[in-house]
Amino acid sequence: TRTPVNVTVTGAAGQIGYALLFRIASGHLLGADVPVKLRLLEIPQGLKAAEGTAMELDDAAFPLLRGIEITDDPNVAFDGANVALLVGARPRTKGMERGDLLEANGGIFKPQGKAINDHAADDIKVLVVGNPANTNALIARSAAPDVPADRFTAMTRLDHNRAIAQLAKRTGAAVADIKRVTIWGNHSATQYPDIFHAEVAGKNAAEVVNDEQWLAETFIPTVAKRGAAIIEARGASSAASAASAALDHVHTWVNGTADGDWTSMGIVSDGSYGVPEGLISSFPVTTKDGAFEIVQGLDINDFSRPRIDASVKELEEERDAVRGLGLI
Ligand code: NAI
Repeated sequence: TRTPVNVTVTGAAGQIGYALLFRIASGHLLGADVPVKLRLLEIPQGLKAAEGTAMELDDAAFPLLRGIEITDDPNVAFDGANVALLVGARPRTKGMERGDLLEANGGIFKPQGKAINDHAADDIKVLVVGNPANTNALIARSAAPDVPADRFTAMTRLDHNRAIAQLAKRTGAAVADIKRVTIWGNHSATQYPDIFHAEVAGKNAAEVVNDEQWLAETFIPTVAKRGAAIIEARGASSAASAASAALDHVHTWVNGTADGDWTSMGIVSDGSYGVPEGLISSFPVTTKDGAFEIVQGLDINDFSRPRIDASVKELEEERDAVRGLGLI
C-alpha cells in the first residue's frame, strides 16, 4: 500500500474549494491509486464552512481519502505538504486600486511562501490559483528561498483548456484531437492564446482555421475574457472549470504530458522567448517524472510577438509594483 500524499488546499471553504476537494479525494489530482491526506487552510471566518465541507467529504466515504485536517495556521497547513494548491486570495473589490490588491495578496502569499519554505516536504509542488495568480506565485516563491524556484507555478491551464474548447467548436474537431495549444504570459486579459503551433487532428491549427481576423477578433478575446463572460452568465465566477483545470495542471505535472503534446503552465522564466528571467509567465511545457521543461525552438511570428510582449510587460509592471511594496 502506498503512503498517502499530503495535499494542502487554501481557501478550502470557497467555491473553487468546494468543486476541487471532492475530486482530489476521488483520485483525480494524482491518480486513481494514490491515497491522499487533505489539509484545509482557511481564515478564521472560513473555518466553520470548511468543517461542513469536511463532513461531506467524510460522508462520501472515498476509499483514497486517508484524513482531513482543518486549520487557520499556515505553519500547520503546510507541514509535510507534498502538493499545495493556493486557491484562497483577496478578490478585487469595487474601487480597489491595483496596488491595494497586490498589497492585500502579499499579506496572504508572503507568509504562506514562508510556511512552505519552513515546513513543506522536500518534493513540494505548489500551484497558485488565487488571482493575480502569476504575481502571487512570484511573492510566495520569493518568500521560499530554500525551495527550488521551479516548484512554484501559476495556473493558466484553465485558459489553455478554454482555448482548446474554442478551437474544437470552430473546427468541429474533438477536444482529444487538439494538441500543442499555448498560453503565453499572464493569467489576465492580456494573455496570448497561440494556435500557430497547435494541431487539429495532426494538421496545423492556424492553417486549418485560415482566418486571422477570427483569431484576432473572436478567438483571442473569447478566451481572454471568458472569466468575465462566465460571471455575467452564471452570476458567480468560474469554479468547477477552474477546479478541473487545477486538477489537470497537477496531474500533468506529476504524471507527464502525452507524446507529441504539451501544456501551458505559469513557471519561473529562464529567459526563454525573451521573457525576463525570474518572472512567472506562462509557457508551453512538457512534463516528465515530476519535472517540466519549456518547449524550445518555436518560431514566433509577427502576429504572436507583440501579443506575447504585451502580456509580459504587464507581468513586469506587476513585479515592479510588488517589489516597490517590499513584497519580493
Ligand atoms: P471564493 O471567494 O469563493 O473563496 C476564496 C476562499 O479563500 C474563501 O473561503 C476565503 O475565506 C479564503 N481565504 C481568503 N484568504 C485566505 C487565506 N489567507 N488563507 C486561506 N484561505 C483564505 O473564491 P473562489 O471562487 O473559490 O476563487 C478563489 C481564487 O481563484 C480567486 O482569487 C479567483 O480570482 C481565482 N481564480 C483563478 C483562476 C485561474 O485560472 N487562475 C480561475 C478562477 C478563479
